[in-house]
Amino acid sequence: MSYVLEEIINQKLKTVFLALNLDDKYAVIKISDRPDLSDFQCNAALALAKIEKKNPRQIAECIAQQLRKDNDFDKISVDGPGFLNITLKNEFLASVLDKMAEDQRFGCAKFAKPKTIVLDYGGPNVAKEMHVGHLRSAVIGESMRRIEDFVGNKTISDVHFGDWGTPIGMILAEVIAQDGDLSKIKTYNIAEITRFYKQANIRCKEDETAKETARQITAKLQEGDEIYRMAWKHIRQISVDAVKENYKELGVHFDLWLGESDAHNTCFEIKKIAQDKGLLEYDDGAYIIRLDEENKPKPPVIIEKSDGGFTYQATDLATIKMRVDDLKADEIIYFVDKRQSLHFEQVFEAAEKLGIAPNVKLKHIGFGTVNGADGKPFKTRDGGVMNLNDMIKMSKAKVAESMPKADESKGITQDYLDNLISQVAVGAIKFQDLKNNIASGYVFEVDDFADFDGKTGPYIQYAVARINSIMNKNQEITPGNIIITNSEERNMALKLTQLNNIVFRAEAECEPSIVSDYVYNLAQLFSCFYNTSPIKNAQSPDIAASRLSIALLTRNVLIKMLNLLGIEAPNVMLKA
Ligand code: ARG
Repeated sequence: MSYVLEEIINQKLKTVFLALNLDDKYAVIKISDRPDLSDFQCNAALALAKIEKKNPRQIAECIAQQLRKDNDFDKISVDGPGFLNITLKNEFLASVLDKMAEDQRFGCAKFAKPKTIVLDYGGPNVAKEMHVGHLRSAVIGESMRRIEDFVGNKTISDVHFGDWGTPIGMILAEVIAQDGDLSKIKTYNIAEITRFYKQANIRCKEDETAKETARQITAKLQEGDEIYRMAWKHIRQISVDAVKENYKELGVHFDLWLGESDAHNTCFEIKKIAQDKGLLEYDDGAYIIRLDEENKPKPPVIIEKSDGGFTYQATDLATIKMRVDDLKADEIIYFVDKRQSLHFEQVFEAAEKLGIAPNVKLKHIGFGTVNGADGKPFKTRDGGVMNLNDMIKMSKAKVAESMPKADESKGITQDYLDNLISQVAVGAIKFQDLKNNIASGYVFEVDDFADFDGKTGPYIQYAVARINSIMNKNQEITPGNIIITNSEERNMALKLTQLNNIVFRAEAECEPSIVSDYVYNLAQLFSCFYNTSPIKNAQSPDIAASRLSIALLTRNVLIKMLNLLGIEAPNVMLKA
Protein backbone atom coordinates (compact mmCIF):
# COMPACT_ATOMS: atom_id res chain seq x y z
CA MET A 1 0.00 0.00 0.00
CA SER A 2 1.47 3.30 -0.94
CA TYR A 3 1.37 6.02 1.67
CA VAL A 4 2.42 9.30 0.18
CA LEU A 5 2.02 12.50 2.19
CA GLU A 6 1.33 14.77 -0.77
CA GLU A 7 -1.27 12.40 -2.13
CA ILE A 8 -3.06 12.27 1.20
CA ILE A 9 -3.21 16.07 1.28
CA ASN A 10 -4.26 16.26 -2.39
CA GLN A 11 -7.08 13.86 -1.58
CA LYS A 12 -8.28 16.09 1.25
CA LEU A 13 -8.21 19.08 -1.11
CA LYS A 14 -10.10 17.17 -3.77
CA THR A 15 -12.92 16.40 -1.37
CA VAL A 16 -13.19 20.09 -0.48
CA PHE A 17 -13.03 21.18 -4.14
CA LEU A 18 -15.81 18.76 -5.11
CA ALA A 19 -17.97 19.92 -2.21
CA LEU A 20 -17.50 23.51 -3.39
CA ASN A 21 -18.19 22.57 -7.02
CA LEU A 22 -14.68 23.49 -8.11
CA ASP A 23 -12.70 21.64 -10.76
CA ASP A 24 -10.68 19.12 -8.74
CA LYS A 25 -7.91 18.85 -11.32
CA TYR A 26 -6.46 21.92 -9.64
CA ALA A 27 -6.47 20.26 -6.23
CA VAL A 28 -2.71 19.81 -6.08
CA ILE A 29 -0.17 21.05 -3.62
CA LYS A 30 3.52 21.68 -3.96
CA ILE A 31 6.28 22.21 -1.47
CA SER A 32 6.02 25.76 -0.17
CA ASP A 33 8.07 28.45 -1.84
CA ARG A 34 8.05 30.13 1.56
CA PRO A 35 9.03 27.52 4.14
CA ASP A 36 8.86 30.32 6.75
CA LEU A 37 5.11 30.61 6.08
CA SER A 38 4.00 27.03 5.42
CA ASP A 39 4.93 23.46 4.56
CA PHE A 40 2.93 23.29 1.32
CA GLN A 41 1.04 25.66 -0.90
CA CYS A 42 -1.78 25.35 -3.41
CA ASN A 43 -2.10 27.90 -6.19
CA ALA A 44 -5.43 26.61 -7.52
CA ALA A 45 -7.40 29.76 -6.71
CA LEU A 46 -5.48 31.76 -9.31
CA ALA A 47 -6.44 29.40 -12.12
CA LEU A 48 -9.97 28.86 -10.78
CA ALA A 49 -10.59 32.62 -10.56
CA LYS A 50 -10.48 32.87 -14.33
CA ILE A 51 -12.94 29.99 -14.78
CA GLU A 52 -15.29 31.07 -11.99
CA LYS A 53 -14.86 34.76 -12.83
CA LYS A 54 -14.32 35.57 -9.16
CA ASN A 55 -11.62 37.15 -7.07
CA PRO A 56 -8.88 34.53 -6.37
CA ARG A 57 -8.58 35.53 -2.73
CA GLN A 58 -12.29 34.95 -2.29
CA ILE A 59 -12.04 31.43 -3.77
CA ALA A 60 -8.94 30.66 -1.71
CA GLU A 61 -10.75 31.85 1.42
CA CYS A 62 -13.71 29.50 0.74
CA ILE A 63 -11.33 26.55 0.35
CA ALA A 64 -9.40 27.63 3.45
CA GLN A 65 -12.54 27.73 5.56
CA GLN A 66 -13.29 24.10 4.72
CA LEU A 67 -9.70 22.95 5.21
CA ARG A 68 -9.54 24.58 8.65
CA LYS A 69 -12.09 22.02 9.82
CA ASP A 70 -9.53 19.26 9.22
CA ASN A 71 -7.61 18.35 12.36
CA ASP A 72 -4.51 17.31 10.43
CA PHE A 73 -3.76 20.91 9.54
CA ASP A 74 -2.19 23.30 11.99
CA LYS A 75 -2.61 26.47 9.98
CA ILE A 76 -4.29 27.40 6.70
CA SER A 77 -3.77 30.93 5.46
CA VAL A 78 -4.51 32.88 2.31
CA ASP A 79 -1.63 35.07 1.24
CA GLY A 80 -0.71 37.38 -1.61
CA PRO A 81 -3.06 37.31 -4.60
CA GLY A 82 -4.67 34.04 -3.43
CA PHE A 83 -2.05 31.49 -2.46
CA LEU A 84 -3.26 28.89 -0.04
CA ASN A 85 -0.59 28.16 2.55
CA ILE A 86 -0.80 24.89 4.43
CA THR A 87 1.01 23.93 7.62
CA LEU A 88 0.64 20.41 8.96
CA LYS A 89 0.10 19.33 12.54
CA ASN A 90 3.13 17.58 13.95
CA GLU A 91 0.99 14.59 14.93
CA PHE A 92 -0.17 14.15 11.35
CA LEU A 93 3.37 14.38 9.97
CA ALA A 94 4.55 11.90 12.60
CA SER A 95 1.78 9.44 11.75
CA VAL A 96 2.81 9.47 8.08
CA LEU A 97 6.42 8.80 9.10
CA ASP A 98 5.28 5.88 11.25
CA LYS A 99 3.57 4.38 8.21
CA MET A 100 6.68 4.93 6.07
CA ALA A 101 8.82 3.23 8.66
CA GLU A 102 6.58 0.17 8.70
CA ASP A 103 6.84 -0.37 4.95
CA GLN A 104 9.78 -1.85 3.07
CA ARG A 105 9.16 0.61 0.23
CA PHE A 106 8.74 3.49 2.68
CA GLY A 107 5.20 4.00 1.40
CA CYS A 108 6.40 4.79 -2.14
CA ALA A 109 3.93 4.20 -4.95
CA LYS A 110 4.34 1.91 -7.96
CA PHE A 111 3.02 2.40 -11.47
CA ALA A 112 -0.30 0.61 -11.85
CA LYS A 113 0.49 -0.17 -15.50
CA PRO A 114 4.16 -1.12 -15.74
CA LYS A 115 5.97 -0.43 -19.02
CA THR A 116 8.64 -2.64 -20.53
CA ILE A 117 11.75 -0.52 -20.87
CA VAL A 118 14.88 -1.61 -22.70
CA LEU A 119 17.96 0.21 -21.46
CA ASP A 120 21.06 0.49 -23.64
CA TYR A 121 24.03 1.62 -21.52
CA GLY A 122 26.90 -0.62 -22.54
CA GLY A 123 28.43 -0.18 -25.95
CA PRO A 124 32.00 -1.33 -25.24
CA ASN A 125 33.86 -2.53 -28.31
CA VAL A 126 35.79 -5.70 -29.06
CA ALA A 127 39.51 -5.55 -28.33
CA LYS A 128 39.36 -2.07 -26.86
CA GLU A 129 39.87 -1.43 -23.20
CA MET A 130 36.95 0.34 -21.63
CA HIS A 131 37.69 4.00 -21.10
CA VAL A 132 36.27 6.77 -19.00
CA GLY A 133 33.63 7.54 -21.68
CA HIS A 134 32.05 4.13 -21.08
CA LEU A 135 31.91 4.93 -17.38
CA ARG A 136 29.10 7.47 -17.70
CA SER A 137 26.91 5.15 -19.82
CA ALA A 138 27.35 2.39 -17.29
CA VAL A 139 26.93 4.46 -14.15
CA ILE A 140 23.93 6.50 -15.29
CA GLY A 141 22.26 3.56 -17.06
CA GLU A 142 22.64 1.23 -14.08
CA SER A 143 21.12 3.83 -11.80
CA MET A 144 18.18 4.42 -14.14
CA ARG A 145 17.63 0.65 -14.39
CA ARG A 146 17.31 0.48 -10.61
CA ILE A 147 15.06 3.54 -10.46
CA GLU A 148 12.76 2.15 -13.17
CA ASP A 149 12.59 -1.17 -11.35
CA PHE A 150 11.74 0.56 -8.10
CA VAL A 151 8.81 2.46 -9.58
CA GLY A 152 7.47 -0.81 -10.91
CA ASN A 153 8.47 -0.87 -14.57
CA LYS A 154 9.87 -3.98 -16.20
CA THR A 155 13.44 -3.35 -17.27
CA ILE A 156 15.64 -5.23 -19.70
CA SER A 157 19.21 -4.02 -20.04
CA ASP A 158 21.31 -4.96 -23.04
CA VAL A 159 25.06 -4.38 -23.34
CA HIS A 160 24.91 -3.94 -27.14
CA PHE A 161 28.50 -5.02 -27.62
CA GLY A 162 30.35 -3.40 -30.52
CA ASP A 163 31.46 -6.62 -32.16
CA TRP A 164 30.66 -6.30 -35.85
CA GLY A 165 32.36 -3.32 -37.45
CA THR A 166 35.64 -2.67 -39.29
CA PRO A 167 37.80 -2.96 -36.11
CA ILE A 168 37.38 -6.75 -36.33
CA GLY A 169 38.56 -6.76 -39.93
CA MET A 170 41.50 -4.58 -38.90
CA ILE A 171 42.56 -6.96 -36.13
CA LEU A 172 42.27 -10.02 -38.35
CA ALA A 173 44.21 -8.30 -41.14
CA GLU A 174 46.93 -7.31 -38.66
CA VAL A 175 47.26 -10.84 -37.27
CA ILE A 176 47.51 -12.21 -40.82
CA ALA A 177 50.09 -9.55 -41.73
CA GLN A 178 52.26 -10.55 -38.76
CA ASP A 179 51.66 -14.31 -38.53
CA GLY A 180 50.92 -15.18 -42.15
CA ASP A 181 47.54 -16.66 -41.21
CA LEU A 182 45.07 -17.02 -38.31
CA SER A 183 46.29 -20.40 -37.01
CA LYS A 184 47.62 -18.91 -33.75
CA ILE A 185 44.61 -16.70 -33.05
CA LYS A 186 43.20 -18.85 -30.24
CA THR A 187 46.43 -18.57 -28.25
CA TYR A 188 46.15 -14.78 -27.97
CA ASN A 189 44.81 -13.18 -24.82
CA ILE A 190 43.05 -9.84 -24.50
CA ALA A 191 46.25 -7.85 -23.98
CA GLU A 192 47.76 -9.31 -27.15
CA ILE A 193 44.60 -8.75 -29.19
CA THR A 194 44.41 -5.18 -27.93
CA ARG A 195 48.01 -4.69 -29.03
CA PHE A 196 47.19 -6.05 -32.51
CA TYR A 197 44.35 -3.57 -32.70
CA LYS A 198 46.58 -0.66 -31.77
CA GLN A 199 49.11 -1.72 -34.40
CA ALA A 200 46.34 -2.13 -36.97
CA ASN A 201 45.21 1.41 -36.28
CA ILE A 202 48.68 2.76 -36.99
CA ARG A 203 49.05 0.66 -40.14
CA CYS A 204 45.62 1.60 -41.53
CA LYS A 205 46.28 5.30 -40.98
CA GLU A 206 49.36 5.16 -43.17
CA ASP A 207 48.40 2.54 -45.70
CA GLU A 208 45.30 2.66 -47.92
CA THR A 209 45.70 -0.97 -49.06
CA ALA A 210 45.81 -2.19 -45.48
CA LYS A 211 42.57 -0.30 -44.89
CA GLU A 212 41.03 -1.88 -47.96
CA THR A 213 42.11 -5.38 -46.85
CA ALA A 214 40.52 -4.79 -43.44
CA ARG A 215 37.30 -3.67 -45.11
CA GLN A 216 37.21 -6.75 -47.32
CA ILE A 217 37.83 -9.07 -44.38
CA THR A 218 35.00 -7.38 -42.45
CA ALA A 219 32.64 -7.87 -45.39
CA LYS A 220 33.64 -11.54 -45.75
CA LEU A 221 33.23 -12.09 -42.02
CA GLN A 222 29.73 -10.62 -42.19
CA GLU A 223 28.93 -12.86 -45.18
CA GLY A 224 29.85 -15.89 -43.07
CA ASP A 225 33.41 -16.90 -44.01
CA GLU A 226 34.15 -19.82 -41.68
CA ILE A 227 37.77 -19.09 -40.78
CA TYR A 228 37.06 -15.44 -40.08
CA ARG A 229 34.02 -16.39 -38.01
CA MET A 230 36.07 -18.80 -35.92
CA ALA A 231 38.70 -16.13 -35.27
CA TRP A 232 36.03 -13.52 -34.54
CA LYS A 233 34.34 -15.81 -32.01
CA HIS A 234 37.55 -16.12 -30.05
CA ILE A 235 38.25 -12.39 -30.09
CA ARG A 236 34.68 -11.63 -29.11
CA GLN A 237 34.75 -14.11 -26.23
CA ILE A 238 37.93 -12.86 -24.63
CA SER A 239 36.75 -9.27 -25.05
CA VAL A 240 33.42 -10.06 -23.39
CA ASP A 241 35.23 -11.80 -20.53
CA ALA A 242 37.42 -8.72 -19.96
CA VAL A 243 34.52 -6.32 -20.11
CA LYS A 244 32.47 -8.46 -17.73
CA GLU A 245 35.22 -8.07 -15.14
CA ASN A 246 35.02 -4.30 -15.48
CA TYR A 247 31.26 -4.19 -15.10
CA LYS A 248 31.43 -6.58 -12.15
CA GLU A 249 33.86 -4.33 -10.37
CA LEU A 250 31.54 -1.36 -11.00
CA GLY A 251 28.46 -3.30 -9.86
CA VAL A 252 26.79 -2.81 -13.24
CA HIS A 253 24.38 -5.45 -14.44
CA PHE A 254 23.12 -6.43 -17.88
CA ASP A 255 20.27 -8.84 -18.53
CA LEU A 256 21.34 -9.42 -22.11
CA TRP A 257 24.78 -9.75 -23.59
CA LEU A 258 23.79 -9.24 -27.20
CA GLY A 259 26.03 -7.54 -29.70
CA GLU A 260 25.80 -5.65 -32.94
CA SER A 261 26.50 -9.01 -34.64
CA ASP A 262 23.22 -10.41 -33.30
CA ALA A 263 21.36 -7.84 -35.37
CA HIS A 264 23.01 -8.88 -38.63
CA ASN A 265 20.18 -11.03 -39.99
CA THR A 266 17.58 -8.43 -39.10
CA CYS A 267 19.56 -5.86 -41.11
CA PHE A 268 18.37 -7.70 -44.25
CA GLU A 269 14.79 -7.30 -43.04
CA ILE A 270 15.35 -3.58 -42.51
CA LYS A 271 16.66 -3.25 -46.05
CA LYS A 272 13.63 -5.19 -47.35
CA ILE A 273 11.12 -3.06 -45.41
CA ALA A 274 12.80 0.10 -46.71
CA GLN A 275 12.58 -1.28 -50.23
CA ASP A 276 8.92 -2.30 -49.89
CA LYS A 277 8.01 1.12 -48.56
CA GLY A 278 9.82 2.84 -51.40
CA LEU A 279 12.26 4.43 -48.98
CA LEU A 280 15.45 2.76 -50.18
CA GLU A 281 17.62 4.70 -52.59
CA TYR A 282 20.71 3.55 -54.42
CA ASP A 283 23.25 6.32 -54.13
CA ASP A 284 26.84 6.13 -55.29
CA GLY A 285 27.08 2.38 -54.65
CA ALA A 286 25.39 2.55 -51.22
CA TYR A 287 21.82 2.00 -50.09
CA ILE A 288 20.40 4.92 -48.16
CA ILE A 289 17.21 6.29 -46.64
CA ARG A 290 16.73 10.02 -47.05
CA LEU A 291 15.35 11.95 -44.11
CA ASP A 292 13.12 14.93 -43.79
CA GLU A 293 15.11 18.09 -44.30
CA GLU A 294 12.34 20.55 -43.68
CA ASN A 295 13.53 21.81 -40.32
CA LYS A 296 17.21 21.28 -40.72
CA PRO A 297 19.48 19.55 -43.21
CA LYS A 298 20.11 16.01 -42.09
CA PRO A 299 22.41 13.53 -43.76
CA PRO A 300 20.66 10.39 -45.00
CA VAL A 301 20.85 7.12 -43.10
CA ILE A 302 23.23 4.74 -44.83
CA ILE A 303 21.94 1.19 -44.60
CA GLU A 304 24.48 -0.68 -46.67
CA LYS A 305 27.88 0.54 -47.78
CA SER A 306 29.21 0.01 -51.30
CA ASP A 307 31.24 -3.01 -50.13
CA GLY A 308 28.05 -4.73 -48.99
CA GLY A 309 28.64 -4.21 -45.26
CA PHE A 310 25.82 -3.00 -43.02
CA THR A 311 26.46 0.20 -41.08
CA TYR A 312 26.26 1.21 -37.41
CA GLN A 313 22.95 2.89 -38.26
CA ALA A 314 21.54 -0.22 -39.94
CA THR A 315 22.54 -2.26 -36.89
CA ASP A 316 20.79 0.13 -34.56
CA LEU A 317 17.63 0.04 -36.70
CA ALA A 318 17.68 -3.76 -36.73
CA THR A 319 18.23 -3.80 -32.98
CA ILE A 320 15.21 -1.54 -32.48
CA LYS A 321 13.10 -3.96 -34.50
CA MET A 322 14.31 -6.91 -32.39
CA ARG A 323 13.71 -5.08 -29.13
CA VAL A 324 10.18 -4.25 -30.20
CA ASP A 325 9.30 -7.64 -31.71
CA ASP A 326 11.09 -9.99 -29.32
CA LEU A 327 11.31 -8.04 -26.08
CA LYS A 328 7.99 -6.17 -26.50
CA ALA A 329 9.59 -2.89 -25.54
CA ASP A 330 7.29 0.06 -24.82
CA GLU A 331 10.30 2.30 -24.49
CA ILE A 332 13.97 2.10 -25.45
CA ILE A 333 16.41 4.42 -23.71
CA TYR A 334 19.98 4.92 -24.91
CA PHE A 335 22.58 6.31 -22.52
CA VAL A 336 25.26 7.37 -24.94
CA ASP A 337 27.66 10.33 -25.23
CA LYS A 338 25.83 13.35 -26.59
CA ARG A 339 28.30 13.55 -29.46
CA GLN A 340 26.21 10.73 -30.95
CA SER A 341 23.03 12.85 -30.91
CA LEU A 342 22.81 13.14 -34.68
CA HIS A 343 23.19 9.38 -35.08
CA PHE A 344 20.21 8.77 -32.81
CA GLU A 345 18.13 11.52 -34.39
CA GLN A 346 18.70 9.88 -37.76
CA VAL A 347 18.04 6.37 -36.51
CA PHE A 348 14.84 7.37 -34.67
CA GLU A 349 13.51 9.22 -37.67
CA ALA A 350 14.28 6.30 -39.98
CA ALA A 351 12.61 3.91 -37.50
CA GLU A 352 9.51 6.06 -37.66
CA LYS A 353 9.48 6.09 -41.46
CA LEU A 354 9.98 2.32 -41.55
CA GLY A 355 7.20 1.80 -39.01
CA ILE A 356 9.28 -0.71 -37.02
CA ALA A 357 8.52 0.75 -33.60
CA PRO A 358 4.91 1.92 -33.59
CA ASN A 359 3.94 3.62 -30.31
CA VAL A 360 7.36 2.89 -28.87
CA LYS A 361 9.15 5.77 -27.20
CA LEU A 362 12.76 6.05 -28.36
CA LYS A 363 14.92 8.24 -26.16
CA HIS A 364 18.55 9.21 -26.34
CA ILE A 365 19.88 10.49 -23.05
CA GLY A 366 23.09 12.16 -24.15
CA PHE A 367 25.69 13.00 -21.56
CA GLY A 368 28.66 15.32 -21.51
CA THR A 369 32.27 14.25 -21.14
CA VAL A 370 34.31 13.60 -18.03
CA ASN A 371 36.97 16.30 -18.01
CA GLY A 372 40.24 16.92 -16.25
CA ALA A 373 41.06 20.12 -14.38
CA ASP A 374 42.11 21.69 -17.71
CA GLY A 375 38.55 21.31 -19.03
CA LYS A 376 39.66 18.77 -21.64
CA PRO A 377 38.66 15.07 -21.60
CA PHE A 378 40.11 13.35 -18.55
CA LYS A 379 43.55 11.89 -19.29
CA THR A 380 46.16 9.87 -17.45
CA ARG A 381 49.11 11.70 -15.92
CA ASP A 382 51.18 11.10 -19.05
CA GLY A 383 48.41 12.37 -21.31
CA GLY A 384 47.02 9.01 -22.47
CA VAL A 385 43.35 7.99 -22.57
CA MET A 386 42.16 7.22 -19.05
CA ASN A 387 40.94 3.66 -19.10
CA LEU A 388 38.47 2.38 -16.61
CA ASN A 389 40.86 0.05 -14.81
CA ASP A 390 43.33 2.88 -14.22
CA MET A 391 40.59 5.07 -12.91
CA ILE A 392 39.37 2.44 -10.46
CA LYS A 393 42.96 1.79 -9.35
CA MET A 394 43.53 5.50 -8.81
CA SER A 395 40.34 5.78 -6.79
CA LYS A 396 41.24 2.80 -4.63
CA ALA A 397 44.69 4.22 -3.91
CA LYS A 398 43.08 7.49 -2.86
CA VAL A 399 40.59 5.78 -0.56
CA ALA A 400 43.28 3.54 0.92
CA GLU A 401 45.13 6.68 2.06
CA SER A 402 42.32 7.54 4.46
CA MET A 403 41.83 3.97 5.74
CA PRO A 404 43.84 2.20 8.43
CA LYS A 405 46.17 -0.63 7.50
CA ALA A 406 45.03 -4.25 7.87
CA ASP A 407 45.47 -5.48 11.42
CA GLU A 408 44.36 -9.02 12.28
CA SER A 409 44.55 -8.31 16.01
CA LYS A 410 41.82 -5.68 15.55
CA GLY A 411 39.84 -7.99 13.29
CA ILE A 412 40.71 -5.98 10.15
CA THR A 413 41.83 -8.58 7.64
CA GLN A 414 43.31 -7.62 4.27
CA ASP A 415 40.30 -9.17 2.48
CA TYR A 416 37.88 -7.17 4.55
CA LEU A 417 39.83 -3.99 3.93
CA ASP A 418 40.12 -4.63 0.17
CA ASN A 419 36.39 -5.14 -0.08
CA LEU A 420 35.68 -1.98 1.91
CA ILE A 421 38.13 0.07 -0.16
CA SER A 422 36.49 -1.19 -3.32
CA GLN A 423 32.98 -0.30 -2.08
CA VAL A 424 34.09 3.20 -1.13
CA ALA A 425 36.23 3.80 -4.22
CA VAL A 426 33.49 2.73 -6.62
CA GLY A 427 30.94 4.68 -4.58
CA ALA A 428 33.14 7.78 -4.85
CA ILE A 429 33.51 7.44 -8.63
CA LYS A 430 29.80 6.86 -9.14
CA PHE A 431 28.60 9.64 -6.85
CA GLN A 432 31.01 12.11 -8.45
CA ASP A 433 29.33 11.27 -11.75
CA LEU A 434 25.72 11.08 -10.55
CA LYS A 435 25.77 14.31 -8.59
CA ASN A 436 25.90 16.16 -11.90
CA ASN A 437 23.20 16.83 -14.39
CA ILE A 438 23.41 14.17 -17.08
CA ALA A 439 23.63 16.59 -19.97
CA SER A 440 26.51 18.57 -18.58
CA GLY A 441 30.02 17.27 -18.55
CA TYR A 442 31.93 17.40 -15.31
CA VAL A 443 35.42 17.85 -14.02
CA PHE A 444 36.80 14.83 -12.22
CA GLU A 445 37.96 16.30 -8.91
CA VAL A 446 41.05 14.16 -8.45
CA ASP A 447 41.84 15.64 -5.04
CA ASP A 448 38.52 15.57 -3.24
CA PHE A 449 36.07 13.19 -4.98
CA ALA A 450 36.74 10.58 -2.30
CA ASP A 451 36.74 12.89 0.73
CA PHE A 452 34.65 11.94 3.73
CA ASP A 453 33.31 15.49 3.84
CA GLY A 454 31.50 17.43 1.16
CA LYS A 455 29.13 16.25 -1.53
CA THR A 456 30.75 12.86 -2.07
CA GLY A 457 29.81 9.18 -2.04
CA PRO A 458 31.97 8.45 1.03
CA TYR A 459 30.20 11.25 2.95
CA ILE A 460 26.85 9.53 2.46
CA GLN A 461 28.32 6.09 3.17
CA TYR A 462 29.79 7.56 6.32
CA ALA A 463 26.38 8.93 7.35
CA VAL A 464 24.94 5.41 7.08
CA ALA A 465 27.78 3.89 9.09
CA ARG A 466 27.36 6.60 11.74
CA ILE A 467 23.69 5.75 12.17
CA ASN A 468 24.64 2.09 12.46
CA SER A 469 26.92 2.97 15.30
CA ILE A 470 24.18 5.09 16.90
CA MET A 471 21.90 2.05 16.75
CA ASN A 472 24.59 -0.06 18.37
CA LYS A 473 25.14 2.41 21.16
CA ASN A 474 21.44 2.52 21.98
CA GLN A 475 20.59 -1.13 21.93
CA GLU A 476 18.67 -0.89 25.18
CA ILE A 477 16.15 1.44 23.51
CA THR A 478 13.43 0.05 21.25
CA PRO A 479 12.43 2.27 18.33
CA GLY A 480 8.93 3.62 18.96
CA ASN A 481 6.25 5.84 17.46
CA ILE A 482 7.50 9.12 16.13
CA ILE A 483 6.86 12.29 18.11
CA ILE A 484 7.94 15.64 16.74
CA THR A 485 9.25 17.90 19.49
CA ASN A 486 11.61 20.34 17.77
CA SER A 487 12.31 21.96 14.42
CA GLU A 488 15.16 19.58 13.55
CA GLU A 489 12.86 16.58 13.92
CA ARG A 490 10.24 18.41 11.90
CA ASN A 491 12.72 19.18 9.11
CA MET A 492 13.71 15.52 9.02
CA ALA A 493 10.06 14.53 8.79
CA LEU A 494 9.36 16.92 5.92
CA LYS A 495 12.43 15.72 4.03
CA LEU A 496 11.71 12.05 4.54
CA THR A 497 8.12 12.41 3.36
CA GLN A 498 9.40 13.85 0.04
CA LEU A 499 10.90 10.50 -0.90
CA ASN A 500 8.16 9.32 -3.26
CA ASN A 501 8.27 12.58 -5.16
CA ILE A 502 12.02 12.46 -5.52
CA VAL A 503 12.07 8.97 -6.97
CA PHE A 504 9.25 9.63 -9.41
CA ARG A 505 10.80 12.90 -10.54
CA ALA A 506 14.15 11.18 -11.12
CA GLU A 507 12.30 8.59 -13.18
CA ALA A 508 10.29 11.06 -15.23
CA GLU A 509 13.26 13.30 -15.92
CA CYS A 510 15.76 10.44 -16.32
CA GLU A 511 17.96 12.26 -13.87
CA PRO A 512 19.64 10.35 -11.01
CA SER A 513 21.17 13.63 -9.76
CA ILE A 514 17.74 14.32 -8.20
CA VAL A 515 18.33 11.29 -5.98
CA SER A 516 21.95 12.20 -5.23
CA ASP A 517 20.95 15.74 -4.21
CA TYR A 518 18.30 14.27 -1.97
CA VAL A 519 20.61 11.82 -0.15
CA TYR A 520 23.13 14.57 0.37
CA ASN A 521 20.54 16.93 1.89
CA LEU A 522 19.05 14.17 3.99
CA ALA A 523 22.47 13.22 5.37
CA GLN A 524 23.17 16.88 6.20
CA LEU A 525 19.81 17.34 7.91
CA PHE A 526 20.45 14.19 9.89
CA SER A 527 23.66 15.69 11.22
CA CYS A 528 21.77 18.78 12.42
CA PHE A 529 19.09 16.60 13.96
CA TYR A 530 21.55 14.38 15.79
CA ASN A 531 23.58 17.32 17.08
CA THR A 532 20.54 18.95 18.66
CA SER A 533 18.39 15.96 19.58
CA PRO A 534 20.12 13.51 21.89
CA ILE A 535 18.77 9.99 22.07
CA LYS A 536 20.07 8.56 25.34
CA ASN A 537 19.58 11.84 27.17
CA ALA A 538 16.23 12.71 25.64
CA GLN A 539 13.59 14.35 27.86
CA SER A 540 11.57 11.14 28.04
CA PRO A 541 11.80 7.47 27.04
CA ASP A 542 9.11 8.06 24.39
CA ILE A 543 11.15 10.79 22.76
CA ALA A 544 14.27 8.63 22.85
CA ALA A 545 12.33 5.82 21.17
CA SER A 546 11.00 8.24 18.56
CA ARG A 547 14.43 9.63 17.77
CA LEU A 548 15.79 6.16 17.34
CA SER A 549 12.99 5.50 14.85
CA ILE A 550 13.86 8.64 12.91
CA ALA A 551 17.49 7.52 12.82
CA LEU A 552 16.54 4.03 11.68
CA LEU A 553 14.20 5.27 8.96
CA THR A 554 16.83 7.74 7.74
CA ARG A 555 19.41 4.99 7.57
CA ASN A 556 17.11 2.69 5.62
CA VAL A 557 16.13 5.45 3.20
CA LEU A 558 19.79 6.41 2.66
CA ILE A 559 20.73 2.79 1.99
CA LYS A 560 17.86 2.35 -0.48
CA MET A 561 18.64 5.61 -2.28
CA LEU A 562 22.34 4.72 -2.49
CA ASN A 563 21.20 1.42 -3.92
CA LEU A 564 19.21 3.26 -6.59
CA LEU A 565 22.41 5.10 -7.46
CA GLY A 566 24.21 1.75 -7.66
CA ILE A 567 26.31 2.51 -4.60
CA GLU A 568 26.89 0.09 -1.73
CA ALA A 569 26.53 1.06 1.89
CA PRO A 570 29.14 -0.64 4.10
CA ASN A 571 28.00 -1.32 7.66
CA VAL A 572 31.11 0.23 9.08
CA MET A 573 33.51 2.84 7.71
CA LEU A 574 37.09 2.95 8.91
CA LYS A 575 39.23 6.03 9.18
CA ALA A 576 43.00 6.06 9.50
N1 ARG B 1 29.81 0.91 -29.41
C1 ARG B 1 29.41 2.27 -29.57
C2 ARG B 1 30.58 3.21 -29.38
O1 ARG B 1 31.56 2.87 -28.76
C3 ARG B 1 28.33 2.68 -28.58
C4 ARG B 1 27.04 1.95 -28.72
C5 ARG B 1 25.90 2.67 -28.09
N2 ARG B 1 24.64 1.97 -28.26
C6 ARG B 1 23.97 1.94 -29.41
N3 ARG B 1 22.87 1.21 -29.44
N4 ARG B 1 24.37 2.57 -30.48
O2 ARG B 1 30.52 4.32 -29.88
